[in-house]
Amino acid sequence: MKNKRIIALIAGVLCIAILSVALVWSLSKPKEETTPEDPVVETTGGEEGGTGETGDDETGSVNDETGNSGTGSSGSGDDETGDDETGDDETGNTGSGSSGTGSGSTGSSGTGSSGTGSGSSGSTGTGSSGTLNPDPTTKEEIEAVLNDPFMILVNRDHKVSDDYVGSDLVTYSGDYKLNSTCAAALRKLIAAGEKAGYSYTLYSGYRSYSSQYNKYYNKIAYWEEQGYSYDEAVSLTNEYYSPPGASEHHTGLAADVCIPEIVNKYACLHENYDQTEEFEWFSTHAHEYGFILRYPEGAESITGYSYEPWHYRYVGVEIAGEIYERGITLEEYVADLEARLSALE
Ligand code: DAL
Ligand code: ZN
Repeated sequence: MKNKRIIALIAGVLCIAILSVALVWSLSKPKEETTPEDPVVETTGGEEGGTGETGDDETGSVNDETGNSGTGSSGSGDDETGDDETGDDETGNTGSGSSGTGSGSTGSSGTGSSGTGSGSSGSTGTGSSGTLNPDPTTKEEIEAVLNDPFMILVNRDHKVSDDYVGSDLVTYSGDYKLNSTCAAALRKLIAAGEKAGYSYTLYSGYRSYSSQYNKYYNKIAYWEEQGYSYDEAVSLTNEYYSPPGASEHHTGLAADVCIPEIVNKYACLHENYDQTEEFEWFSTHAHEYGFILRYPEGAESITGYSYEPWHYRYVGVEIAGEIYERGITLEEYVADLEARLSALE
């Protein structure tokens, strides 16, 4: 009897000891890490309530849903973070774009020539803006425009490689980076807007390849979570999101610009932004500073993207003026120059 009690006591102590060890082990086990090849679905935590935490969102709460227009409700669970890079996760937003000193140049590879998207030219990215004939006729003039570093064409047909990094990146504000020339031009444009009584904020600038990778696949996962099939989720994502390599945000020459109140209220950009006086002013003056509205309304079949009133692209003052006056897209402008060149050869 006494032996049985001792055995039971020893068994009990052993059980407690084993359970304790198991508990300690499970608490101390490191969490699994993810890699860029393993995109993570993240939410910002601030997006639902519109706290002003923005996240780098291409779309708005309206088009996040099904592409319907309207005023939309705040928060759609769509803020795209999941970025492992700085310069993309939209925090530390200053609201007016007036902060930041243009430091932090990375001295990375050049933007490359138009149409190649290779980004391997080693160009300084300072470009030859100021000397280009935007309506070129000779072979030399046409080639000068097509080879200008600011004329790089990046889209689904012209992708950059996964090791591409935009050239001359500088900090614009907070974590946002842009090409230095683009950043300086945007500051001037936004300062001119402020003189006219309007406020603007940069919402997204340079994005690394892995950042866009996460953004794109997170978005697909988001749509699947909403009940869409994978194919439907891809199709919805493709309306506003480039696959990695196909985003001109990789160049540091693309800037998503919006009104601070809208960004803060919806934690995202909003299609109705184009109904505002701010948009009216911005869209009619951006070319004077070298920017074009990159994805205009009605040009979806040419650009491959839905209308994005917030997405501007720096191409230099001469080319921007020409594209603005002719009311065409960058794709059409480049195609026209290539046709002119072929006709001469
Ligand atoms: N929203 C644009 C198309 C991008 O993702 O680059
Ligand atoms: Zn954009």
